[in-house]
Amino acid sequence: MRNSIYSKPINPVAVVTGANKGIGLEVVRQLALHGVTVVLTARDQGRGTRAVDSLKLPNVLFHQLDVRDPGGPPALADFLTARFGSLDILVNNAGHGGVTTDVEGLKALNIDPRQWLSGGAADLVRGVIKQDYEGAVACIDINYFGCKRVTEALLPLLQLSSWGATIVNVSSLRSELRRIPGERIRKELGEMEGLSEERIEEVLRRFLEDMKRGDLDGGGWCLMLPAYSISKAALNAYTRVLAARHPAMRINCVHPGYVDTDINWHTGILTVSEGARGPVALAMLPAGGPSGCYYDQTTLASFF
Ligand SMILES: NC(=O)c1ccc[n+]([C@@H]2O[C@H](COP(=O)([O-])OP(=O)(O)OC[C@H]3O[C@@H](n4cnc5c(N)ncnc54)[C@H](OP(=O)(O)O)[C@@H]3O)[C@@H](O)[C@H]2O)c1
Repeated sequence: MRNSIYSKPINPVAVVTGANKGIGLEVVRQLALHGVTVVLTARDQGRGTRAVDSLKLPNVLFHQLDVRDPGGPPALADFLTARFGSLDILVNNAGHGGVTTDVEGLKALNIDPRQWLSGGAADLVRGVIKQDYEGAVACIDINYFGCKRVTEALLPLLQLSSWGATIVNVSSLRSELRRIPGERIRKELGEMEGLSEERIEEVLRRFLEDMKRGDLDGGGWCLMLPAYSISKAALNAYTRVLAARHPAMRINCVHPGYVDTDINWHTGILTVSEGARGPVALAMLPAGGPSGCYYDQTTLASFF
């Protein structure tokens, strides 16, 4: 994939969501250094413009976008239409954990990164990471529906790309289906035959019902970061649906690695520069490159 970064003939235009900090900001920086014109988007005008200023790169501009706001993606599409007439790269990076955390308590537990990543710390963190219903709704609305809102609004512009459009959905290793105890859920999200937004959203509705009833265990859901996990599993399934529907594009999802950012209260072990590498490589995939795939950083990985 690395060679492909240098093999594109013209200057493409990219949008990165949730890019005022963390991995998103670094994705913007790396794409801009590869000659891409990047629209850095953020839900907060002040945080977004400060992020653009911090980069000091002439080919980065700002547009406000809250992925929860139904009016946001169409307004961004209007701006892109007027300014560029088309779009080449969309990186759906905006993400939310959906939990409330006693950060000092979490740090005091001094959890081994391997135990954290395996999901084996679910019992350990129960007292310090709390998942409530409102947090679960917000998490799913940002991580799954937010990505869908932005993608649907920008697809007509991506279809006009003469560069060859790519979409990168920033997922998580929490999305991997083997981590979900319920076999029915694994099948619903894992089997390509009949996979659709309707089926994905039915799974999400059931999750929220079980969450409201306080029966995540009985429903077969992941107990480590439950809403975040199912939101990212849904995002991966959506990536596969989209890729099958748009064979001329490269549409993939990626776990960026366990990166030191706000979303994990800075427990991550990779730098943002390392975390941005996978999303950037997938954003720069040439025509004919893989689509409908899931990557662990820059390595092809299994959805299951
Ligand atoms: N760090 C890791 O180890 C890791 C691992 C796996 C996956 N990921 C994924 O990587 C992506 C980037 O996360 P990160 O680690 O860089 O965390 P981060 O530093 O917390 O960044 C998250 C970004 O998403 C934005 N965001 C949240 N809600 C939004 C909304 N409604 N509309 C627009 N933007 C919104 C945040 O904006 P505000 O500043 O305004 O809140 C922030 O810019 C996420 O999708 C995350 O799930 C991260």
